[in-house]
Amino acid sequence: MPVKTKQARRLVVEKTYARPARFVRLKPVGFPIKELHRNYFVNVEREDLFEIYAKEQWMGSVIATGDYLFDQRVIPDFAYQVTKVLPSGVVKIAEDTIVEIEKPEVKEDRGAVEGGVKLKDVIGHGHVKRKCKIVMKYLEDPESFGGWAPKNVLFHGAPGTGKTMTAKALANEVKARFFKVRATDLVGEFVGDGSKRIHELYSMAADSAPAIVFIDEVDAVGLDRAYQSVRGDVAEVVNALLSELDGVKENPGVVTIAATNSPALLDRAIRSRFEEELEFKIPTKDERLAILKHYVRTLPMEVDADLGRYLSRTEGFSGRDLKEKLLKGALYRAILEDAEKIVERHLDEALKEIDLALSRPPGEMFT
Ligand SMILES: Nc1ncnc2c1ncn2[C@@H]1O[C@H](COP(=O)(O)OP(=O)(O)OP(=O)(O)O)[C@@H](O)[C@H]1O
Ligand SMILES: [Mg+2]
Repeated sequence: MPVKTKQARRLVVEKTYARPARFVRLKPVGFPIKELHRNYFVNVEREDLFEIYAKEQWMGSVIATGDYLFDQRVIPDFAYQVTKVLPSGVVKIAEDTIVEIEKPEVKEDRGAVEGGVKLKDVIGHGHVKRKCKIVMKYLEDPESFGGWAPKNVLFHGAPGTGKTMTAKALANEVKARFFKVRATDLVGEFVGDGSKRIHELYSMAADSAPAIVFIDEVDAVGLDRAYQSVRGDVAEVVNALLSELDGVKENPGVVTIAATNSPALLDRAIRSRFEEELEFKIPTKDERLAILKHYVRTLPMEVDADLGRYLSRTEGFSGRDLKEKLLKGALYRAILEDAEKIVERHLDEALKEIDLALSRPPGEMFT
């Protein structure tokens, strides 16, 4: 007997019972059988036409969240995954089903606003924190700044030095909304009208002001001209971004913080929009000690070690390296040994592992 997939079985059993769908949301996922790990986007300019096209070929299909629908017309075998159906459960695509194509979501990081990191948790970066104070004052009372509001700030520096953390901490300090978006998401997955998307982001931020719009990896839209010619709407995204950064449409109580590892690669037009560029440097020796001490306090296991011993050997480490590689590595070793506390041997071994990984050619890092 041929093996039937869950979906096929359901087709047989539930076809007659499935309720007509009120709403179906589809996410373009490409060719899940042939190729994995690729991001697909489908540029739909006319959403009403997408609905007609979807219904024409999938009318009567019985679906539930997680199922795949395969295109038979425009791009044969291109798959769409069902990400939402109403009513929930097993439904049938019917005449008046509203079919929507999924757009990348801008997540509002509410969790961080309650409790969450604060500026005191950010070790070092004094000059950045000074600027943050100004931004905080502005967010608390936008009107008092008149036309002199801090608007766009660029955070740059090596990976893991605390750029994202600081932006979040700043938002937390004044309970501002935090809209975090990766520039690559605006480019790579965006479906439809690029500039509309950015305007929506900013009007959402303005509606919930005080707010911070945090654009991570901003160089992804700002740098690559070649990429811009491949994807028409990248240029559009850049232009939309520029107009928001210019504050042509005033958004009181909204501050943009953009982050990049490589400001030198940034498009000049974009770079010039930032009133200040703040560098996040790799921590100094004293800062490394402070970072280690800070996170040792939060470890679920006691640490019985002289942290001072690890300062010369961690030169060049970022805060993330110290926390995620050294401390976590030591913790996991201790856990595996059922040890009662973390001792220097655990830290030494973790460090050795890191050195080993760094001495291998990059391609072999994960083998
Ligand atoms: N100066 C610091 N003080 C305290 N913790 C730090 C510091 N720098 C890094 N960390 C720790 O490392 C983590 C990673 O930092 P974060 O994500 O903010 O780096 P980033 O600069 O945004 O890196 P990337 O460029 O890769 O996005 C933080 O969540 C925090 O736990
Ligand atoms: Mg970051």
